[in-house]
Amino acid sequence: MPDRRISFRAPPGTRDLLPPESWEWQALSRLAIDSFERAGYAPVETPAFEHTEVFARGVGEGSEVVHKQMYTFSDQGGRSLTLRPEGTAAVMRMVLEHSLQRGPLPLKLCYSSAMFRQERPQKGRYRAFFQVGIEAIGSLEPSIDAEVIELGHRFLLNAETEPRLLLNSIGHPSESCRGGYLDKLRSFLRAHSSDLAEPDRQRAETNPLRSFDSKEPSTIAALEDAPLITSHLCDACRDHFQRVQDLLTDLELDFELEPRLVRGLDFYTRTAFEWVSSNLGSQSALCGGGRYDGLSQALGGPELGGIGFACGVERLLLARTGPSAPSLVGVYIVALSDEARREALMLASSLRSAGVGCDLDHSRRGLKGQMKDAVRSGATWAVILGDEELRERRAGLKNLRTQEQEQVPWHQLEKRLAP
Ligand code: HAM
Repeated sequence: MPDRRISFRAPPGTRDLLPPESWEWQALSRLAIDSFERAGYAPVETPAFEHTEVFARGVGEGSEVVHKQMYTFSDQGGRSLTLRPEGTAAVMRMVLEHSLQRGPLPLKLCYSSAMFRQERPQKGRYRAFFQVGIEAIGSLEPSIDAEVIELGHRFLLNAETEPRLLLNSIGHPSESCRGGYLDKLRSFLRAHSSDLAEPDRQRAETNPLRSFDSKEPSTIAALEDAPLITSHLCDACRDHFQRVQDLLTDLELDFELEPRLVRGLDFYTRTAFEWVSSNLGSQSALCGGGRYDGLSQALGGPELGGIGFACGVERLLLARTGPSAPSLVGVYIVALSDEARREALMLASSLRSAGVGCDLDHSRRGLKGQMKDAVRSGATWAVILGDEELRERRAGLKNLRTQEQEQVPWHQLEKRLAP
């Protein structure tokens, strides 16, 4: 007989999300979308793959994401398609396809979606991962920058991640702003080329701004006296940045100015920010974002400013310091005979209809086994049904936190247990 067993291992850099981690993952995604929806952001979902040019032109050929990390393939029609490595270019493509920019602006959108990047796997860095994020498209006002940053910050605090907010402005591409600055930075990097680590020399020519992202000690040292973007912003970008900072101060939001923060995707303009966590090790970025006022035009659309952020859900899970998410099962029904099992199924149905999260045994376990399952389910209450309880139309009600137990008539159960 040929060996028909396939490898049970998921591909490198991917992972299965299993309980109990998957409960936490689901709770975090729900918390994110809830917080964003409460601020007027509507949930959207784009396809898991796009025409390659959406990312090539949107994210930019100069970025490592496009250059090295995309999962690109041809479909049966010979089209070049790419698994979504990030959400912003895909959301902008969606906006343009449906002409959403013709309606009221800004468009406020949010998502919780899978992303795919062919990176070297390590803790907190995967090839298939999830992001929760928001995009506010169609306003150039500093107030929307402040709103987006405040929303991200509050979400990260509610997710118990102890975030530190780093803030910068990287201006816009014209010669009077980032363009002129890049000429200066390039000259500086050329003059110090021999001090840069080997892998950074090429990048210094092709994408000089990204030199600031190098983890190589010699490059970091060489960049100590490098010119910084914040001293070379044009008046309009400097004014925008100042107004964003003033608004964040009004909101009593702590931020650290980090003029070396450059972000990895080419579409960013003006405000750039990242939240980092000391609990994450080398992949310290929890969440990142910024303005992308040129993205729509890069895709062939009209002038349409935008700003947003995305958080890696796996990194949120690693960074969390708070208690785990409460179980949505509030009640576990323990049934001790065939007749009790029939009643248990009906009781579960009516409790669930009344909005009470409820689970029960389907394996004919004994009392001890079912009580163990009740604790494992995370329920606060165990409802115990035996023959005697059935005869007297009552149930044993045990609080699994305090271990207190009492007898409750059936007709009062729903009222006692309703949330
Ligand atoms: P990004 O900085 O490339 O930005 O990714 C955002 C977040 O996704 C990172 O801070 C990190 O938490 C998570 N992340 C990135 N790569 C990986 C990976 N390989 N494994 C696990 N987590 C990862 C963007 O993607 C932009 N679209 C954000 C944005 C939205 N900017 C404006 N609007």
